[in-house]
Amino acid sequence: MNDVRVDNVDDPEIRDQRDAIIRVTSTAICGSDLHIYNGSLPQPIPMTLGHEFMGIVEEVGRGVTNLKRGDRVVVPFPIACGHCLFCNHDLPGHCENSNPEHYGPEGGLVTEKGGALFGYTDLYGGYDGGQAEFVRVPYADYGPRKVPGDLSDEQVLFLTDIFPTGYSGIDWADVKGGEIIAIFGAGPVGIMAAKSAWLRGASRVIIVDTQQYRLDLARKAANAEGILWESHQQVVDGIRSKSKGYGADVCVEAVGFEPDRNLLDRATAVVNLEKGSPKTLLACMSAVRRGGYVTVLGVFATSFDNFPVGQFFDKGITLRGGQAPAHKHIDKLLQHVVKGEVKLHDIISHTLPLSQAPHGYDIFRHKKDNCTKVVLKPGI
Ligand SMILES: NC(=O)c1ccc[n+]([C@@H]2O[C@H](COP(=O)([O-])OP(=O)(O)OC[C@H]3O[C@@H](n4cnc5c(N)ncnc54)[C@H](O)[C@@H]3O)[C@@H](O)[C@H]2O)c1
Ligand SMILES: [Zn+2]
Ligand SMILES: [Zn+2]
Repeated sequence: MNDVRVDNVDDPEIRDQRDAIIRVTSTAICGSDLHIYNGSLPQPIPMTLGHEFMGIVEEVGRGVTNLKRGDRVVVPFPIACGHCLFCNHDLPGHCENSNPEHYGPEGGLVTEKGGALFGYTDLYGGYDGGQAEFVRVPYADYGPRKVPGDLSDEQVLFLTDIFPTGYSGIDWADVKGGEIIAIFGAGPVGIMAAKSAWLRGASRVIIVDTQQYRLDLARKAANAEGILWESHQQVVDGIRSKSKGYGADVCVEAVGFEPDRNLLDRATAVVNLEKGSPKTLLACMSAVRRGGYVTVLGVFATSFDNFPVGQFFDKGITLRGGQAPAHKHIDKLLQHVVKGEVKLHDIISHTLPLSQAPHGYDIFRHKKDNCTKVVLKPGI
């Protein structure tokens, strides 16, 4: 817990003919990494973290014909085979081949998880991640996408995860244009959801956070109207007042099970034997209009009693969420970047050498120095 170090490890090698080895040029720290850092997702033995990375192809296995040494690629964060039932349904996060030891239909706490993710604990496959100089990429004929040379790393790095993830929150809500969209969490994922909401024609984008500096960034980078979270009711009232009293057409949850919590929240969790809190999800259920959509991007690892299933039924809410299908959206989202229709790099607050990764985790986790997104560079 809270123990991230920079160590020398063996260089990765090709193990399967569909593997590639990538020399990492840029990698980022994600809010999802913080769940491991906080000790909320267990990882008893050391592993290389990092699922947001890009770089140059160093070597490919015999089965990889679409890439060659020297190609510059971004890599979607789910590790997916590309041909199982789930991959065929555009559900790479549920790939049934990449996580053989811990995969299953149940979706349990420590057994029967989904497909593998880079650098995301043994439960998600135990694959070393990309916060490193080199990384092994399985199924390299399916995941990595080549990027045009005239785009900088910073312009395309977030195609690996947070841009497709933010976009999924809007896509799952079937946004067609004209909707009022309220996003909970003005972290990197929430801000990418706000950018995606405009791409899909939203009429109004509202964003909620406990940190004023993040709301300020969300206004600057994604033209979102901020509401500072003080209480459940104040936020719900605020959203209703901006939507003719109905509530938002879509509420996107982009905080997850580890929100900022007060003493009462903590005491409730202890009494209910719960890990973390669903408070932002509950606020979404209240702040959405009847017949609206709630999409869940924030990670939830456990069950919560008292989930408002009555409200879900009475209001006729459509609820969707999960690991984002990055492979499904990455190509069209790259085109939005190529055409200059969206800018991704304006959320980066810190660029550090990889050797300063522990410092990067510390400032991102504790929101020091107005940190919003840390990019790590092995090469500097
Ligand atoms: N579904 C996916 O595929 C996927 C992909 C990437 C990240 N995630 C998850 O998305 C979530 C957000 O990721 P991130 O990188 O933006 O992380 P982050 O930790 O930087 O962002 C979370 C934001 O929520 C805010 N917050 C805390 N309590 C709040 C409250 N009560 N009300 C409103 N805002 C509150 C924080 O101040 C912070 O700005 C995490 O849970 C992460 O694991 C999911
Ligand atoms: Zn991520
Ligand atoms: Zn698969």
